[in-house]
Amino acid sequence: MTPDQPYAGRTALVTGATGGIGLEIARALAEGGARVILPARNREKGERVAADIPGSTVTDLDLASLDSVRAFAARLDEPIHLCVLNAGIVLLGDRTRHVTADGYELHWQTNLLAQAALVRGILPLLRAGRARIAVQCSLAAAVGRLRWNDLQGEQRYGAFRAYAQSKLALGLFGLELGRREPDLHVALCHPGVAPATAIAAPIRALLPDRVVDAVVHSFGNPPRRAAESALMALGADAAAGGFYGPRGLFQLSGHPRRLRLYRRLRDTDAARRLGGVIDEEL
Ligand SMILES: NC(=O)c1ccc[n+]([C@@H]2O[C@H](COP(=O)([O-])OP(=O)(O)OC[C@H]3O[C@@H](n4cnc5c(N)ncnc54)[C@H](OP(=O)(O)O)[C@@H]3O)[C@@H](O)[C@H]2O)c1
Repeated sequence: MTPDQPYAGRTALVTGATGGIGLEIARALAEGGARVILPARNREKGERVAADIPGSTVTDLDLASLDSVRAFAARLDEPIHLCVLNAGIVLLGDRTRHVTADGYELHWQTNLLAQAALVRGILPLLRAGRARIAVQCSLAAAVGRLRWNDLQGEQRYGAFRAYAQSKLALGLFGLELGRREPDLHVALCHPGVAPATAIAAPIRALLPDRVVDAVVHSFGNPPRRAAESALMALGADAAAGGFYGPRGLFQLSGHPRRLRLYRRLRDTDAARRLGGVIDEEL
């Protein structure tokens, strides 16, 4: 291991690395010497991305299918040293509540449950690698609420509401994982606002190009900088249970620093209760 190859000899798994922020996280880890496992729901896209990231391998994973998650976990057989739970969706502008073949609301499954299932499936490999895990939350976690009587949004659904709930839940899951598994190093992060990625496409489509360019330039983090929060959360100086995100105004953009956990992420009772819900589901 050398200063410019801090991840040499390490195996890294980054969910959602076929585009946007995850791609930049994977690229930085590979540049630092890690061998990167690149899960992809679209193999062709995954192969294209992997061709650009030396030392990466593509493996099929569709978080919208728990069978796919189990099959993915069963295929891995080596210690994982670095793991970033980064994949995520937000279906802004889509009023339809989508339900997966497993019966879960799509944000809940993609952003939370399937990544919890993934961690559970590869837990022995994470333990073997004494893994450092970065959990990609969002500013939305600060305003999200866990609606215990309606976690699946059956009574009331809105895409942002479902997204914010799933991101708060993912953060609480990460913190609870760290408490349950003291040999794992779990820290949270968020990228600020990265308007140039595919996740923001429905919003970009509503605005003229010059407005989008101005917003990206003035307020947003480009994906490479947005990736730095996760890299800091994985870093040797990161605190277990710490939270890392942009240092700029309202945490929208800028290079990362350690942040205070949002109030709702500090709710250890909620984290424990959610852990129980996830245990029952999986
Ligand atoms: N961009 C922002 O402003 C922002 C702000 C706050 C938080 N975040 C969070 O940052 C993370 C990355 O977002 P991004 O902006 O980089 O979005 P993105 O460009 O849309 O990337 C999302 C990644 O997740 C993958 N993914 C989505 N559904 C999946 C599924 N069912 N199975 C497997 N992979 C799936 C996507 O795969 P495909 O390539 O196949 O689509 C893609 O690789 C997300 O967790 C997001 O919530 C982003």
